[in-house]
Amino acid sequence: MAAYITEKVLSVHHWNDTLFSFTTTRDRALRYENGQFVMMGLEVEGRPLTRAYSIASANYEETLEFFSIKVPNGPLTSRLQQIQPGDDVLVSRKPTGTLVLHDLLPGKHLYLFSTGTGLAPFMSVIRDLDVYDKYEKIVLIHGVRTVSELAYQHYIEHELPQHEFLGEAVREKLIYYPTVTREPFRNQGRLTDLIESGKLFADIGLPPLDPAVDRVMICGSSAMLKDSRELLDRRGFKMSKRIGEPGDYVIEHAFVEK
Ligand code: A2P
Repeated sequence: MAAYITEKVLSVHHWNDTLFSFTTTRDRALRYENGQFVMMGLEVEGRPLTRAYSIASANYEETLEFFSIKVPNGPLTSRLQQIQPGDDVLVSRKPTGTLVLHDLLPGKHLYLFSTGTGLAPFMSVIRDLDVYDKYEKIVLIHGVRTVSELAYQHYIEHELPQHEFLGEAVREKLIYYPTVTREPFRNQGRLTDLIESGKLFADIGLPPLDPAVDRVMICGSSAMLKDSRELLDRRGFKMSKRIGEPGDYVIEHAFVEK
């Protein structure tokens, strides 16, 4: 287990039948950049059973936060969804990942495209003060199938704008755009369709995507990543090819357990 730190679960929140999040203690030695992921999971029969999980908490916080799906027969999540405060979880010592601010070229607007649990890394990014220093507007799009999957909606709309240090910047710069595909909601449709049709931009009052001023971070399913990339590439956006080489956009797979 030397590659892992054992942390204690502090709180658990079930959003619905398929999604939950939880907080844990944080070892002081664990340093990470907002948007990065770790390997996280449980000790099962004396062995670590872990998966890649984006860290949802900002890197200045004293606790760690994770956001997970519940897969009925998933080896890890069928167990992980039962955790209670006081239980142990394993967290790897080396955070990594591509969804980091410094791999984006300077720009005016930062778009965060997420579907499902792809929201997790952006919960960390929208709590990063640097983001508000670097960009004029931050547009967080969260696409889900049903309204009950809009995890963190209340927090983003009502709590973050009142945050002690971030509140003012959030009120001025953060645009949150939740969209639902399989139920009625105020915003409906896939984020890719909303971008293609221009509806997103009409709704938020910003001009259509432009590689000269817009930067994008993307986290979702393989299909969503593929369609988002094609959409951006057609508009002349250049992807960051590897960590440390900045581009107009960066991508990462959301955690999905088969
Ligand atoms: P849809 O309901 O039309 O499939 P999932 O749970 O399958 O990951 O989906 C989460 C959200 O992402 C759903 O709203 C889903 O829409 C949407 N989605 C699925 N595939 C794509 C894609 N290729 N591009 C954009 N959004 C997608």
